[in-house]
Amino acid sequence: MSHTLRVTPRKSACIRLVQITDTHIARDPGPTDFEGVDTAATLAVVLAAVDALPELPDCMVLTGDLVDIPSPEAYGRLRALLRDRRYPVVCLPGNHDDPDMMRAHLNAGALSTHRAIDFGGWRVLMLNDWEAGSDGGRFPRAELDFLRRELTAAGEIPVLICLHHQPVPIGSPWMDAMGLDHADELFAVTDSFNIVRGMTWGHIHQEFSAERRGIPLWGTPSTCVQFLPGAGEYKVDDRAPGFRTFELLPGGVLATRVMRT
Ligand SMILES: [Fe+2]
Repeated sequence: MSHTLRVTPRKSACIRLVQITDTHIARDPGPTDFEGVDTAATLAVVLAAVDALPELPDCMVLTGDLVDIPSPEAYGRLRALLRDRRYPVVCLPGNHDDPDMMRAHLNAGALSTHRAIDFGGWRVLMLNDWEAGSDGGRFPRAELDFLRRELTAAGEIPVLICLHHQPVPIGSPWMDAMGLDHADELFAVTDSFNIVRGMTWGHIHQEFSAERRGIPLWGTPSTCVQFLPGAGEYKVDDRAPGFRTFELLPGGVLATRVMRT
């Protein structure tokens, strides 16, 4: 399998991308240990909301914590929900995932673990900051080399970067204790190119936006349990599950918004 997925958008002047994240699918059906939420049911509601959008997405990305505890059964339940989507669905791992198990179970039908998506006028990079035994993230040298190669190959084409862990503090101390370690290594690479038009991640289970050196940065709500913004310690928020839409436009311009179910 090539590491790049080529997607022909329905309208090249407006590429429609949807991000869903932190699906935390469990091994068995029904309520889970995660605040008693049936995470497959809340994901199904989010997928129905995506399908009810005025225009179907050209592609969907999943930015990690796909399952709560890795098992072939949990990945199988996620696969069953996503493999028959009418658009490609590309996954990257979070700290709750097992990247090898993901690759083994999530390449079926519409679903894949491609590392890059080439829409022609835009590229999306699916970075892997998974670190064994850690709730935080870190890019190994090979991943930073991959990023540098992909940005070089993109030339003048605008790029959106997807990852799991937040590369900047979000103002929630318990969550900021498990962000992306050594984020300066990521920014050292992206700063040396002028084509990165945004970065979006999961992990934080809440909407977030910031800007760094003119580059917008976003966090996206989970499809299941939400965490309270600004909380010093673990605290659940009663906001509804959600997802993020992107419109990738010519000239590196983009529009994004969070939608709730
Ligand atoms: Fe998560």
